[in-house]
Amino acid sequence: MSKGTGIENLQHETRRFPPSAEFIAQAIAKPELYQQAQTDRLDFWANQARELYWHKPFTKTLDYSNAPFATWFEDGELNVSYNTLDRHVLAGRGERIAIYFEGENGDTRTYTYAELLAEVKKTANAFASLGLVSGDRVAIYMPMVPEAVIAMLATVRLGAIHSVIFGGFSAESLRNRINDAEAELIITADGGYRKGKVSALKPAVDEALADDSCPSVKNVVVLKRGGNQVGWVQGRDHWWSDVVDSASSEHEAESFGAEHPLFILYTSGTTGKPKGILHTSGGYLTQAVFTHKNVFDVHPEKDVYWCTADVGWITGHTYVVYGPLANGVSQVIYEGTPDSPDWGRWWQIIEKYKVSIFYTAPTAIRTFMKLGREIPDKSDLTSLRVLGSVGEPINPEAWIWYRDVIGGNSCPIVDTWWQTETGAIMISPLPGITSTKPGSAQVALPGISIGIVDEEGKKVTSGGGYLTINEPWPSMLRGIWGDPERFQKTYWSQYPGLYFAGDGARIDDDGDVWILGRVDDVMNVSGHRLSTAEIESALVSHPFVAEAAVVGATDETTGQAIVAFVILRADQVAAAGSDSDVSKLLRDHVAKEIGPIAKPRQIMVVSELPKTRSGKIMRRLLRDVAEDRPIGDVTTLADTTVMDVITGKLAAGATD
Ligand code: WTA
Repeated sequence: MSKGTGIENLQHETRRFPPSAEFIAQAIAKPELYQQAQTDRLDFWANQARELYWHKPFTKTLDYSNAPFATWFEDGELNVSYNTLDRHVLAGRGERIAIYFEGENGDTRTYTYAELLAEVKKTANAFASLGLVSGDRVAIYMPMVPEAVIAMLATVRLGAIHSVIFGGFSAESLRNRINDAEAELIITADGGYRKGKVSALKPAVDEALADDSCPSVKNVVVLKRGGNQVGWVQGRDHWWSDVVDSASSEHEAESFGAEHPLFILYTSGTTGKPKGILHTSGGYLTQAVFTHKNVFDVHPEKDVYWCTADVGWITGHTYVVYGPLANGVSQVIYEGTPDSPDWGRWWQIIEKYKVSIFYTAPTAIRTFMKLGREIPDKSDLTSLRVLGSVGEPINPEAWIWYRDVIGGNSCPIVDTWWQTETGAIMISPLPGITSTKPGSAQVALPGISIGIVDEEGKKVTSGGGYLTINEPWPSMLRGIWGDPERFQKTYWSQYPGLYFAGDGARIDDDGDVWILGRVDDVMNVSGHRLSTAEIESALVSHPFVAEAAVVGATDETTGQAIVAFVILRADQVAAAGSDSDVSKLLRDHVAKEIGPIAKPRQIMVVSELPKTRSGKIMRRLLRDVAEDRPIGDVTTLADTTVMDVITGKLAAGATD
């Protein structure tokens, strides 16, 4: 079950890091929170929801009569954009910085809350003038610039639904997502800065829309950022500045029901087709705000917060856009990669803006660990007071390095477990309460009820099993866009009444949870979710390939790495050329089909794949090969000699 991150050997971790007396004294979250939630879970969440501004207050908290479909605060009405912006300005906080933007190319810009609100109002008017109305879908394919945030908030201000697509996805992936959501409006940019160069975005949009292959799309708004030449379709394409700059900065936010759809975000599942995870307004925002404030101990009047996630992922939605802005904190947004112009960039940004709360992924920490402490040591990181981790298990060694080298041995680390589907953090220490333990996400947050169960669904009180969620939570996904059956089948059919997260987990003698990684066919590469089936279908879509099997092999830096095994079509072997030619060609093919993030690290050409008698590929054995381990039990194979053939060929040096 475990993906071999080393955590399984460290169950008896004895190191504890309690918060300092000083931290405890000023902490936002107090221990009573757990007590309050325990006493009356629904009342606890209703109180959290009342922290938002409701145009019409709710009277009902949860309706779970149609389980697993839940509604939260259903008769209340609010506007999510109003909650993130107008509310602060009306309360006299308009002059506070909302965004410190740092372009990769050295550009900088700041937006106060009042300025951000004015931009969002203009953009909402511009989108409305293009015909956008409540319930329409908007696909956002942007670099990590403030306009990406503005586009998201302008969309939801009108009651329209955004679907942000990470800029690293290909035209093909973009097209599939646009069509599944039937988006009417696309927001993109000519390009953005990455690794010191302009990386173009508009050509992928043009390719996705070519030959009328996305019939729902009426308009494309293009931000000028990279300054690169772009193709243009008259009537369909509009420069952002042409439609936004002249729009009125007056826009009153209309209220929408708490269950009004807020966004769709596509994520990989166990099949070849990504799922459009649907989130709605009131419950999502409630949990985003509660978790952001309490898990990161946010003091909006003095903290500078930085979450390094791109808005193309759920972390960017909840902990760059909705949580931080609704809490009114000042935050850094950085456009580029951590190595541009050199590996000191992130740490210089922390010093420059005096970042006090920093949230990133273990893969980045492991990369920096390998590069050595001399790089971060060059910057003054003493402004930091809370560190967060998300996306994959953090091994204790990286955790300790993060605490020591980045946090100066004084910052609590919050290892936060959650998913696109959960919408917000579910399991995490609270920094002024929990005595933290390297490598463990530890305990469910107040108001969240989780369990670890065995194969039969029986509760495990000590040892390993499958992570489940026992009670509905406010920011839970409301479904899969256009596919209610898949929602039930994917998450609720393994264990009746429980949400199955797809992760293996272990509970230790203190009752702390250790996340062991995915137990399904989903891989986690540098904290990005990718499905084996999706990459396999991309591989077999190439004319050379007869069959493909993909596994996630343990990788020191990225957590897992993609390793593919392919069988070539007999009539194509000659055309395909050498194994290394075919490997390069197929890697590029996957990048084109899905995006560069899905490119396999290694492709092995084989003549057979190990299958059971019922024809199921035994990925466990392929993982043994990919990780260079002795091959495990082969007795259930239909042909037990297959593995000898595969390993024999690989030993002969015919790999990638
Ligand atoms: C993994 C990202 C261990 C897990 C927010 C989950 C983690 C998947 C952690 C969701 C963590 C996330 N420790 N594993 N702290 N956080 N994961 O949807 O396997 O991109 O199921 O959401 O990431 O990935 P997603």
